Amino acid sequence: MKTITITDLIKYKNEQKKFATLTAYDASFAKLFVDAGIEVLLVGDSLGMTLQGLSSTLPVKIDDIAYHTRCVKMGAPNCFLLSDMPFMSYATPIDAYQNAAKLMQAGANMVKLEGGSWLTETVQGLTQRSVPVCAHLGLTPQSVNVLGGYKVQGREDAVAKQLLSDAIELQNAGAQLLVLECVPTDLAKQITNHVAIPVIGIGAGPHTDGQILVMHDALGITAGKVPKFAKNFLAQTGDIRTAIKTYIEEVENQTYPAVEHSFN
Ligand code: KIV
Ligand code: NA
Repeated sequence: MKTITITDLIKYKNEQKKFATLTAYDASFAKLFVDAGIEVLLVGDSLGMTLQGLSSTLPVKIDDIAYHTRCVKMGAPNCFLLSDMPFMSYATPIDAYQNAAKLMQAGANMVKLEGGSWLTETVQGLTQRSVPVCAHLGLTPQSVNVLGGYKVQGREDAVAKQLLSDAIELQNAGAQLLVLECVPTDLAKQITNHVAIPVIGIGAGPHTDGQILVMHDALGITAGKVPKFAKNFLAQTGDIRTAIKTYIEEVENQTYPAVEHSFN
């Protein structure tokens, strides 16, 4: 596999080629995913739930993400590797610089931060210091206690306008990628068309440039309540490698996410 960079993702956006991405936390799955054709992996702070059994992402530590970033990098050295900045690790720009350095030195190609225009200075400072940034808007799970639960964001006009202006502001501050989580399909489409940077959606409908799934959701490992946007690709294929290839195909031909996986 050739080394994937942000340049490839911008090219996909411009060519309107949809791309599938996944979370990964260890070398073995990372290698399997890349061998199946995945080019972008995220060491998400979702590992608090998927690996640590927690009920939110808030207790996840920067050293947890750094450790799993090193593991994924070993298994998938040529993928484009995103790593999450966990709760409170970017409370101030200085915190962000020190903690982002740990993830970049562990092998990340870009770090992801949750939040809107309050992050402008941080995003600018990271970018100036050669740390590429992915913004994350919509449902931002680190804010679950402020949002009052894991709920769709941007159904009201005022919130939708705010999300669009946050996306533009973060792009102007230097963010090179945007994750949109649990927003209505039409809003996700509008934001994707308004920004030049690639947009990766989860629960954001079929019109974003890319899609991301937590690997445990894509493989039907998640216990209990499964999110509306999730799809168990293993159930329909019976084999993990075929499941991942099917996920990639369904994203590329826009059969996933379908209406039943999206919010209106
Ligand atoms: O932590 C995570 O897995 C994420 C994705 C769901 C976007 O942030
Ligand atoms: Na995350």
